[in-house]
Amino acid sequence: MGLRVLAIETSCDETAAAVVQGRQVLSSVVASQMELHRPFGGVVPEVASRQHVASVQEVVAEALSRAGSDIHDLRGMDAVAVTCAPGLAGALLVGLMAAKTLALVHHKPLVGIHHWEGHIMSGFLADPQLEPPCLCLLVSGGHTSLVDVQDYGRYRVLGQTRDDAAGEAFDKVARLLGLPYPGGPAIDRLAASGDPGRFILPLGRVEHPFDTSFSGLKTAVARLVAGRSLGEQERADLAASFQATVAGILTEKALTAAQQLGYGTILLTGGVAANRELRRRLRQEGEGAGLRVVVPPMDLCTDNAAMIGAAGVIHLQRGDVSSLELEALPRLPLAELDSLYGDLG
Ligand code: KG4
Ligand code: ZN
Repeated sequence: MGLRVLAIETSCDETAAAVVQGRQVLSSVVASQMELHRPFGGVVPEVASRQHVASVQEVVAEALSRAGSDIHDLRGMDAVAVTCAPGLAGALLVGLMAAKTLALVHHKPLVGIHHWEGHIMSGFLADPQLEPPCLCLLVSGGHTSLVDVQDYGRYRVLGQTRDDAAGEAFDKVARLLGLPYPGGPAIDRLAASGDPGRFILPLGRVEHPFDTSFSGLKTAVARLVAGRSLGEQERADLAASFQATVAGILTEKALTAAQQLGYGTILLTGGVAANRELRRRLRQEGEGAGLRVVVPPMDLCTDNAAMIGAAGVIHLQRGDVSSLELEALPRLPLAELDSLYGDLG
């Protein structure tokens, strides 16, 4: 059976709610704001917050009702989990206020969740056999990190981006190539007809072996594009070369980290996990090196509340409950997630 948790996620541009019991997703609802932000070529924080306010109640009610509960009594729920860090401050606040209100009115414990831990937990929802320790490659529009998942609730960030996140690089390069937002899927499609060996692009060398840097790569693409109009095949070749370079960098770092730690499993998650070349490369090279590669289905890789619920269950089991004074913490590092619990004064 296991503990049953209502979870709410509003850290960026998806308003999401879910009910999770143990490692089982009973319901998961995601209202995407993508269309709203598309004309701006990126997420506009103010627009995101307003849309969360407009959607959150309906999304939560729908998730509860699909799981046989009700927003008016929260029956069957053992707690309310909510993403409170990191993310857009105004966006986080909307989910946090909704969660606090429900917890207070229905006398349920509140469990604040670090968004990255949610992404990590998506692997545990997808694969019932998965147990820590493992290595997690977390790649999305906002984050690019290699995380040593030592145990449930115990994580060590081995490296992260020095500048742009991987998804951000995809989005910026897509814009340079005249492709629509979000750029990742558009580059993925265009690259299918391109030659990845046509352009040799910089690998973004960084001092620390597990950190990444994609801004040099983006600048190299900008230079190639500047002042001339590329033909269709050239654009496809450039998209394929860029994508292969990113996939190569991430795969190499993940494999090195897993081998250094002596881990047998790599978990790939975040929106960029949708990238076909990254999945192929990590699978092929990982399995070639005798590693198991876990890639959750896409609806668990992109932002959702089921992953937040899974993290909520883990913390509730450990007795980690947050105060109703819990704040939105837009920059909280993963290493400080223990600060979200205790001190119920
Ligand atoms: O995890 P996510 O949905 O949102 C957060 O940023 O938290 O990730 C969105 C990012 C965007 O930058 C998008 O361009 C990228 O994931 N993305 C992809 C693909 N699909 C989405 N990047 C590369 N290839 C894809 N197929
Ligand atoms: Zn995310």
